[in-house]
Amino acid sequence: MKVLVLGTGAREHALLEALARDGDVTALAAAPGNPGMASVADLIEVDAMDGAAVARCARDWGADLVVVGPEAPLVAGVADAVRAVGIDCFGPSREAAALEGSKAFAKDVMAQAGVPTALAHVCRTVEEVAAALDALGAPHVVKDDGLAAGKGVVVTDDRAEALAHAQTCLARGGDAQVVVEEFLDGPEVSLFCLSDGTCVVPLEPAQDFKRLQDGDAGPNTGGMGAYTPLPWAPPGLVAEVVERVAQPTVDAMARRGTPFAGLLYVGLAMTSRGPRVVEFNARFGDPETQVVLARLQSPLAGLLRAAATGILAGHPPLRWSDDAAVTVVLASPGYPASPTTGGVLHGLAAADAVEGAHVLHAGTARRGDEIVSAGGRVLSVVGTGPDLDAARAVAYDALARIELDGGQHRTDIAASAARDARVTA
Ligand code: AMP
Ligand code: GLY
Repeated sequence: MKVLVLGTGAREHALLEALARDGDVTALAAAPGNPGMASVADLIEVDAMDGAAVARCARDWGADLVVVGPEAPLVAGVADAVRAVGIDCFGPSREAAALEGSKAFAKDVMAQAGVPTALAHVCRTVEEVAAALDALGAPHVVKDDGLAAGKGVVVTDDRAEALAHAQTCLARGGDAQVVVEEFLDGPEVSLFCLSDGTCVVPLEPAQDFKRLQDGDAGPNTGGMGAYTPLPWAPPGLVAEVVERVAQPTVDAMARRGTPFAGLLYVGLAMTSRGPRVVEFNARFGDPETQVVLARLQSPLAGLLRAAATGILAGHPPLRWSDDAAVTVVLASPGYPASPTTGGVLHGLAAADAVEGAHVLHAGTARRGDEIVSAGGRVLSVVGTGPDLDAARAVAYDALARIELDGGQHRTDIAASAARDARVTA
């Protein structure tokens, strides 16, 4: 099977590494990809947002399966364009990707499906927002309805700040709307569920770290690290989330005539009243994918193709390593507000050589013989080991060998989970 992965990030690099371990895969391509992927995949220059161009390059390269990594092409209908030329594609249709592309739409589907989530008001005017803020009380949660690359959500005790964010979103005019939500308290869990439109197969849950700095200080980012498994998660969590969230959502989407086939990312808050959905995404999460796939032992290409072609129900049960996996993201100086790029990266080979570690590229570029930073999140270092303590030690050992002037990373990824696991062991 020849598989083409669309995207440029460490998530897509992780997908390629997992696909490369699948004996049924004969060739891999990444479009447009990054320099780190060149050792496992052909790199094909293409505008990932241009469905016709992606379909053409998939056909020219001879792809049997296309895997769409990021949300923006999905919401733009790129998966539909690929399927239209007769190539299997892992990724929901434009209409089904609205589960991520519009928070108001997602809330509507959740209500229809009876999914436990935060109370919400969809607002089109500042007056409606003010009334909703007062109805729900502090802390305030205000979300831009559309895709915002992690920057659309403001959580604050400051009513004026909440209102100002809503104003900025609504000022775009047109059909701009915001969602004002009840605050959900509790640790977050990311659960990835594969679906072929009918059947749901969950992967292992993970947790990511959205804030820039240790102790969850600083601004929200795309994600600064992740780990799996979650030793603190209640037993039966995955089955409960499939039964109460993922399956009813997939069923509701099918009833609406817009079946969801691809990856349903269920973002949960573990509240005192049980798990509540914080968000849906229509694709693998970044950086959680880097750790979840590090533990997946089942061949990935066949699994994704089964989801893409409606035969997930016949797929054998997934096999997982008992190891733990931890990933730490290295970000550019100035990330997330205004990253400075172009810094030379040293020590990548030494990091990769650490037993149990591997380096996944995100925002990198080749400059002559050197690899330089070329984006906000530069790379993800993944460590695996028999438990979270060991996996953390490997990841941080490898990361310590990489130099990037002004590079930022958190030092506490998975630290408290590892501590809890030690105490309860
Ligand atoms: P979203 O774009 O919906 O994923 O939101 C980004 C982040 O904002 C989430 O991962 C949470 O940390 C936070 N967040 C979103 N909605 C809520 C909520 N209702 N209550 C508390 N935190 C939230
Ligand atoms: N890890 C958060 C996301 O992928 O949206």
